Amino acid sequence: MSEQQQLTVEQHRDKLMNHEYDGIREYDNPLPFWWVGIFIVCIIFAACYWVYYQMSGRTISAEHEEYATELAAWKKLRETILAKSIKVTPQFLAKLAASKSDMAKIKPKFIDKCKACHLPDGGGLVGPNLTDDYQLHGTDRMGLFKTIRDGKPAKGMQSWSPVFKPLDVARLAAYVANLRGTKPAKGKAPQGEKIGPYLSLKAAQKGETPAPAKGETPAPAKGETPAPAKGETPAGETPAPAPAKKGATEKTAPAPAKKG
Ligand code: HEC
Repeated sequence: MSEQQQLTVEQHRDKLMNHEYDGIREYDNPLPFWWVGIFIVCIIFAACYWVYYQMSGRTISAEHEEYATELAAWKKLRETILAKSIKVTPQFLAKLAASKSDMAKIKPKFIDKCKACHLPDGGGLVGPNLTDDYQLHGTDRMGLFKTIRDGKPAKGMQSWSPVFKPLDVARLAAYVANLRGTKPAKGKAPQGEKIGPYLSLKAAQKGETPAPAKGETPAPAKGETPAPAKGETPAGETPAPAPAKKGATEKTAPAPAKKG
């Protein structure tokens, strides 16, 4: 170490420590104020944290509890939403169609939103005539309901579920069903299939389920083959050979017919 360096070190206010490693020496300086401050704050924080979580029994469950509370709140919300939504059945639509107040409530909405394509009286313009005995989709009120709810966007009929609340979508289907048989000022030529009468209120009140319309019997899904009846062999498969009888050699099969 040069004299110049020695001088600087000695002049320095800091205390130089005695040890020396490979010519490296170090000062015994006090830690910087900010560093000590953070260190002390950390210790205080750790103590508080430990008391708060460990001593009070909160521990990690604090987050679990929060999650449970949030989940419970969400479940409650879901239940209220479900309670408000409605289950639409053919019976329900038949009852709506017979309800004068429901039909009176929905009529202005039908005229407002649907007349552009179906005309106010349902005679049909861009959309089909809703007053005749022909229906494009389905053969009952449920068919109308599904078309209104989901739409046929490719054919120019939008889904109306984002516009109307669920009950109003059902009311619209019942209203459209009631238009059937009315005399529009100008009726568009029939489109779709000729259909039978809709479920009557009487039948709906009895809780009858409408008989499936012609051609509506559920066909087995594609690729599904009905299980063969007992004793029947599915085509293309040969029945498994019966196990050879005990003692019988291969040469004896098939067993020769017994004589006399
Ligand atoms: C922008 C035109 C347009 C508007 C507005 C419109 N529709 Fe339609 N609607 C159509 C078209 C087009 C079809 C035929 C869809 C097809 O060919 O599959 C149709 C079909 C239907 C059908 C099915 C009829 C059947 O024979 O199966 C119903 C029901 C119906 N609309 C009800 C309504 C109701 C209710 C409203 C009002 C909330 C409405 N539409 C508004 C264009 C419209």
